[in-house]
Amino acid sequence: MLIAPSLLAADFLHLAQDVETVNAHADIFHLDIMDGTFVPNISFGFPVVEAVAREARKPMDVHLMIVHPEKYVERFAKAGAAMISFHYEAALDESDAVIDLIHGFNVKAGIVINPDCPVESIFPYLGKVDYVLLMSVFAGFGGQKFIEETYARIKAVKAELNRIGSTALIEVDGGVSPKNAGRLGKAGVDILVAGSAVFKAEDPAAAVAALRNG
Ligand code: DX5
Ligand code: ZN
Repeated sequence: MLIAPSLLAADFLHLAQDVETVNAHADIFHLDIMDGTFVPNISFGFPVVEAVAREARKPMDVHLMIVHPEKYVERFAKAGAAMISFHYEAALDESDAVIDLIHGFNVKAGIVINPDCPVESIFPYLGKVDYVLLMSVFAGFGGQKFIEETYARIKAVKAELNRIGSTALIEVDGGVSPKNAGRLGKAGVDILVAGSAVFKAEDPAAAVAALRNG
């Protein structure tokens, strides 16, 4: 399993230190972009992503929690994102076009759904995306409780990916900790996102190892 610490839970006054933790111990930088409209919270934007990009030795995964994702794909791609995901709920019928737009910048494309969005809504896109991000909390805030129904949703997406012969990865985000990492791995998750479990831990490097070992 790949471990993607979410910088939302990082110490922004000493960001270099947390960036180094990811470089040294984890696999992917998970960067949460919130616009205060699609979700009721605002996180950070281009200056932070560009600063991280200067020091990142692991790929950057940008999770767009914004309306009109198509407006900002180019800037995040140019800021150095290797992976960009957008919410299906924000793009709906434009999802195909957003995936093409992301691919046009040679960036891996991911589609995200909140816990209340039926998994079947994204089935038409599974043959096109590089990864599916299943939210295991409602997007918008770190530190929320993991929603147990996520396991059934992972299973349903995994079954559909197998059925169509897709190798797209499954990423899970929200309330992930060493307590549920093992079961998530067994359920078929490829990428685990974790904010609080890594950066609020006394020893973030040990927390990453604990997530990896499940
Ligand atoms: C929530 C974000 C998550 C968040 C996870 O909307 O997408 O990436 O940082 O935080 P934890 O791991 O604390 O639930
Ligand atoms: Zn996220």
